[in-house]
Amino acid sequence: MINICDDIYHLTDGRISYAFFVKDGKLVHSYFGKALYVDPSRMNASVLSALKKHSFGFDWLPFEIGETGRGDFRIPSVAVTGEGFASTDFRFVSAEVLDDKPKLNMPSLRGKAETLAVTLKDEVACLELKLYYTLYDGALARHTEIINKADKSVTLSVLDSACTELDIGNYDYISLDGRWGAECGVNRQSVPYGIVTLSSMRGVTSHQHNPFVAVVDKNATEESGEVYGFNLIYSGNFAVNLERDEKSRVRVNIGMKLNGGGISLEPGETLISPELVCVYTDEGVGGMSRIFHKLYRARLIDPRFADLPRPVVVNSWESVYFDFDEAKLKRFISGAKGLGIDTVVLDDGWFGKRDADNCSLGDWVIDRRKLPNGLTAVIDCCKQNGMKFGIWFEPEAVSPDSDLYRAHPDWAIGTAGRKGIEMRNQYVLDFSKPVVVDYIFESMSKILSEHDISYVKWDMNRGISDVTDNKLYVGYVRGVYELYERLSKAFPHVLIEGCSSGGGRFDPAILYYSPMIWSSDDTDAHERTKIQYGLSLCYPLQTLSNHVSVCPNHQTGRTVPLETRGAVASLGSLGYELNVAELSEKDRAIIKKQVAAYKSDRSVILTGDLYRLVSPFETDMFCEEIVSADKKKAYVVAVNTLNKVNLPIGRIKLKGLIEDALYLVEESGEVMSGAELMHFGLQPEFGCDFAANVWHIKKCSKK
Ligand code: DGJ
Repeated sequence: MINICDDIYHLTDGRISYAFFVKDGKLVHSYFGKALYVDPSRMNASVLSALKKHSFGFDWLPFEIGETGRGDFRIPSVAVTGEGFASTDFRFVSAEVLDDKPKLNMPSLRGKAETLAVTLKDEVACLELKLYYTLYDGALARHTEIINKADKSVTLSVLDSACTELDIGNYDYISLDGRWGAECGVNRQSVPYGIVTLSSMRGVTSHQHNPFVAVVDKNATEESGEVYGFNLIYSGNFAVNLERDEKSRVRVNIGMKLNGGGISLEPGETLISPELVCVYTDEGVGGMSRIFHKLYRARLIDPRFADLPRPVVVNSWESVYFDFDEAKLKRFISGAKGLGIDTVVLDDGWFGKRDADNCSLGDWVIDRRKLPNGLTAVIDCCKQNGMKFGIWFEPEAVSPDSDLYRAHPDWAIGTAGRKGIEMRNQYVLDFSKPVVVDYIFESMSKILSEHDISYVKWDMNRGISDVTDNKLYVGYVRGVYELYERLSKAFPHVLIEGCSSGGGRFDPAILYYSPMIWSSDDTDAHERTKIQYGLSLCYPLQTLSNHVSVCPNHQTGRTVPLETRGAVASLGSLGYELNVAELSEKDRAIIKKQVAAYKSDRSVILTGDLYRLVSPFETDMFCEEIVSADKKKAYVVAVNTLNKVNLPIGRIKLKGLIEDALYLVEESGEVMSGAELMHFGLQPEFGCDFAANVWHIKKCSKK
């Protein structure tokens, strides 16, 4: 509901409230938090207008936008540079309530929703700024739009999606930081005085920082306390800026990063920011995650796939890498038969002459040396064995040693006169050029339309370098979305798994198209507990693509029991990445059981409420519980690290059950009330290093 009374604006859905007012033409922020029940007629006399009593002060009032050069000395959320424009002064022009959110030219939350649109104008610079506010299921989505109404170009150096002012407090922030093979480490620190920036200038989201931040009350825990969560729906350069001012108010500015020199905005040109999702809860970090999860399942993930069973795949990468031919693949496929696997995914190496990572990207033509009968023979073999087929592409890449590069060297992003920087022996195609996107769409379409393919793994294995015009970064990301749009429309039955050397592009915009993303190139189950725990802070488990791989693990050399590998991978969209043609009978039996158990629990895992019970970042253990929406079922996985003798391990207290209902713990046969499970708990027992306990809990009483 959007209430307007005189110059006060109050958005509320009964769960959260967001309010601001207009003073001297400026938008002054007044509240973001738990719903305030304020009758519209009383708004002028309510807390929403408390700040109105104070005299105007650019330097200390909380604002809906941060500006430069006019006395607000904090981080700006909009800024222009260049001749005559060291400052901006946007003043209120009008506000209207729209029936629906206007279309962004990029992914955003789906579904019709009432939207408040506020228009401001800088009369001197002739710039118009629009701020959009949309409430969705306990969250606020915000984006901005800037239009150059002048007759000359301006250089835009900042256009954030939102400026959010958090009231005076004592805050920590939680960010998801990492590196290749170790994405999304949970990093909680005090918000210091001054400015904290988390950003990517790699042209893509990055393994280093996720476009997510939570600002939490110092005393907030996993299940209690005030938490503000922010997640940007974007896959390119971004910046999260937090500024704690002298009064310990925190300004949170998040948006795409326009880089050093900014980008030019031509006369009449409009730039739209990505959408920022803002969540508030007083139910701790776990409460925040559950809001993000429900919201993304309902409003972000493609409804064709959301909440539906994901196929259990076996992927060829760690099994055979580039070293395969038709006979080997057929043995692999026959090996997968009988395990319950739904789809065989052929990873890198099927095209051009790609025997290593040094050639052929861009040449999406079947390698007849390896596959003399084409993909059809492989696909037929899958079908004969009762499985579907999926295939790998890296659409945005081109190898210097490729026919595509030889024909169109100018399609690779590069600086004239300089040799481009190679990373993983490859360049990035300039997806800001429609001709490039057209070409890649055509080559992928040829493969997809000529074959029975139900699954694509879309990889992206390097950052963008050698950019001469910052505008390319913005156009590039649009090109990626354009290709996704076209492929999704042309091949609606195809599920596209996202991937970027693992989770290097695990962001909500990719999730808009790809209902699941390869979480990490590190498939070691022990390492994965941390990666998956971190990702789950804002991304639903159904979006985490997790595979069971061989031991010793190819990345860490560690050996973890197959049962544990299965248990950890089951906390998401389960798959396998080991040579199923070479499994022992014992391992085959374990995997068969794992897949069957996963399939019977899959709907709880994919649609239930997640409770993170033990953090692998704070302890030597990991435990997650998922409770079905009707609270009739729970699935719990606990994993330890190094085992020790005589170890005092406490019971694990479950959450989210019905206190006075009775539940059967299938593994032990015990019947316990919800209260017993939640307040007394379950005793884990670990017999060896990296052991897992898995509990299936089912309600057995009528009540
Ligand atoms: C990086 C991905 O993350 C891997 O899973 C695999 O697909 C390789 N690329 C293939 O080159």
